[in-house]
Amino acid sequence: MDASVVTIRRATADDAAAIARVRVESWRTTYRGMIPKTYLDGMSVESSAALWTKVLTAAPATISVFVAEDADGVLGFASGNRLAVPKLGFDSELSAIYLRPEFQRNGIGRRLYDAVAGAQRGHGANGMIVWVIAANKGARAFYEALGAGLLVEQAFEWDGLDLVEAGYGWHWNAGHGVEAASAG
Ligand SMILES: CC(C)(COP(=O)(O)OP(=O)(O)OC[C@H]1O[C@@H](n2cnc3c(N)ncnc32)[C@H](O)[C@@H]1OP(=O)(O)O)[C@@H](O)C(=O)NCCC(=O)NCCS
Repeated sequence: MDASVVTIRRATADDAAAIARVRVESWRTTYRGMIPKTYLDGMSVESSAALWTKVLTAAPATISVFVAEDADGVLGFASGNRLAVPKLGFDSELSAIYLRPEFQRNGIGRRLYDAVAGAQRGHGANGMIVWVIAANKGARAFYEALGAGLLVEQAFEWDGLDLVEAGYGWHWNAGHGVEAASAG
């Protein structure tokens, strides 16, 4: 694919359905074998779209949602938000980053990360944390390639499922680029 024809822009409420379609498709391929098939099969684009409509219409200005699109439409998205109560010292969070499978590994995820990180830094965030299912080796390699430091691995329960998650973080120095978080 030609990644140079892909543009990154802020999402609007009109993108809610497309974001939901990307999210459901990417979850079903990414989390196969990590999250039970019944859960993945039961995911609903409609209810996800309803949630994203709410986020994109009623959200505070410090929520940053960006989409990646080409002439055929939205093929990926990422979102971030400030944390009122910092987690492990980080006061913003990368809450989602998903691309349709055929568009992965073309540098688009890096561009989406840059957009969310730039917006959160613009809102005064000192750094950003992201949580990933521990078995999701591709996403972990992605965060590591982008300079994030591993913070913690821990069991967690989500929607009745027992999973293990890893937390990664980026510490930002005001005005001095991005520094990896230390694991210690
Ligand atoms: C994770 C994701 C957003 C990354 O976006 P992407 O566009 O595929 O990643 P990029 O092309 O920008 O990759 C940047 C670098 O990260 C690393 N990387 C990215 N994906 C990787 C993978 N699957 N395995 C190993 N390294 C990877 C590489 O170093 C890569 O550079 P390179 O391609 O020059 O070697 C995307 O692959 C995706 O949607 N994956 C499925 C959903 C997912 O897991 N989301 C995260 C949930 S926490």
